[in-house]
Amino acid sequence: MSPIPNEQQCLDILKAQGTTDRVMKHACTVTRLAVAIARSCGADMDLVRAGALLHDIGRSRTHGIRHGVVGEDIARSLSLPEPLVLIIRKHVGAGILPGEAAALGLPERDYIPSTVEEKIVCHADNLVDDDRYITSQASYGDFIRKGLDDAGMRMLDMHKELSRLCGRDMDEIVQELTSNAEHGPCSRYLDMRIDKWTE
Ligand SMILES: [Fe+2]
Repeated sequence: MSPIPNEQQCLDILKAQGTTDRVMKHACTVTRLAVAIARSCGADMDLVRAGALLHDIGRSRTHGIRHGVVGEDIARSLSLPEPLVLIIRKHVGAGILPGEAAALGLPERDYIPSTVEEKIVCHADNLVDDDRYITSQASYGDFIRKGLDDAGMRMLDMHKELSRLCGRDMDEIVQELTSNAEHGPCSRYLDMRIDKWTE
């Protein structure tokens, strides 16, 4: 099994899979938050960083609900470490229960984030709308609008659980992120203006 790729290696992997700039910017936006949460929680920072950067690698093939499993398969084909592969599979929604997965026609696998790193990436993704940070209440509103009431409740439960685990309210961590705090390889994507209608 290969080691956990660093930020530049993750961006190179995404590019090589044909990931659009819009998804790259989203991934970098989620990563800034996920890393800040991981720092507060004492989680594995390298794993969270790589997981957040690569969580949507499946969107290089499909933007549908299957992008998690498709991403898992891509990650496996690249021999990425198993903990990273599982972050990618389990990041969709607030996790997907077995019955929901069956109804969605997803292969029979475990889609519920269980490790702290899996939860952090899943939840950071829920607190980002494309390339904007949103509150947990706004995220909950999005779940409700899509008719995903149960998943919305699970997202709020995950918010509470991570806030308790880390001793910080996740919404506070979002508020503390500043727009000029990024200098790494992701900065060019974070600064990029994306025309939403061209992709
Ligand atoms: Fe995703």
